[in-house]
Amino acid sequence: QKGGYDHFMLKEIYEQPRALRDTVHPRISDGLPSFEMDDVPEGFFKRFEKISIVACGTAMHAGMLGKALIEKLARIPVETDIASEFRYRNPIMDKTTLVIVISQSGETADTLAALRLAKQHGVTTLAIVNVTGSSIAREADYIIHTYAGPEIAVASTKAYSVQLSVMYMIAIKMALAKQEITTNQARELTSSLMHAIETTEKSILLDEQIKAYIKRYENLNDLFFLGRGLDYALGLEGSLKLKEISYIHCEAYAAGELKHGTISLITDGVPVVALATQEILLPKMVSNIREVRSRGADVLLICKKGMRIDRDVYGEKLELPAIDDLFMPIVGVIPLQLIAYHTAVLRGCDVDKPRNLAKSVTVE
Ligand code: M6R
Repeated sequence: QKGGYDHFMLKEIYEQPRALRDTVHPRISDGLPSFEMDDVPEGFFKRFEKISIVACGTAMHAGMLGKALIEKLARIPVETDIASEFRYRNPIMDKTTLVIVISQSGETADTLAALRLAKQHGVTTLAIVNVTGSSIAREADYIIHTYAGPEIAVASTKAYSVQLSVMYMIAIKMALAKQEITTNQARELTSSLMHAIETTEKSILLDEQIKAYIKRYENLNDLFFLGRGLDYALGLEGSLKLKEISYIHCEAYAAGELKHGTISLITDGVPVVALATQEILLPKMVSNIREVRSRGADVLLICKKGMRIDRDVYGEKLELPAIDDLFMPIVGVIPLQLIAYHTAVLRGCDVDKPRNLAKSVTVE
């Protein structure tokens, strides 16, 4: 069933272009996102003044990018909460709030409990779920199914990508409903999303380069991801992936936050994966990378093809295919998944079934 791959995780990484197409293509109508097949009525998104996104783990990281996208395009305030925190903080919600829960399995206990809490408050709930017929899919008011297909590896990969693609579609749809963008702009954004999906094929081609590079990670104890904006949220996901399957201690930092403490951990040879896919943040990011380089960090720079970055800034460079900045996370997550995968294989870890972890966390 591994289809010739050594592990389910690698198979699932490679399945991402297909999973993205299956999730997005049926929901494009007249060049725009449409949730008609999900029975989400036209004009639905107009009603809400506030969005609350609730999830756990990787699904939360997709939600964090969703917040950035919705706020940027639709100008609606979005809160993100880890489900186990949301439940106990007496969150402020009313009829103008839309609670979006995100879950691959649809069975995560805290996410399910958060959904129930929102419903008790009479708040409208929308679930983005991969497993049909799961508890969350059954209980939410509205469901947008993702079509990643079964995800077997404990480390979530293709489920994240499809969750993210739905966040893009929701953000475009909301922006249009709130008249923050014109129909033409919405069509352009939708076309950029489709283009990003096709471009994931090119990201996968970085596999060999990544495999060769990470040989130096075999005996690592610590690693840092740095990024700003969308790249920070992406770094959190890269960090979680590496931790859970390779058992390397790893942290993702907002690059601007480094000098508020973390930089004391950067000494000679400490590996740093620096994410710099956002043109507008590039000068600041480069100056942060210089700060860690000058303290001896071993920097792998992940940037966008064509970005002009001085050679002395990085040790090695991985160039992502160049697409619109807003859509870079779609192509950017794949190398991070591959870094985690190859590092775990190199270290002899049980990639598909990492210690202490379950695919579906049904305890609170
Ligand atoms: O099934 P869910 O999406 O609700 O699961 C949430 C997390 O448990 C899950 O994403 C977990 O963080 C993964 N092991 C990450 O790879």
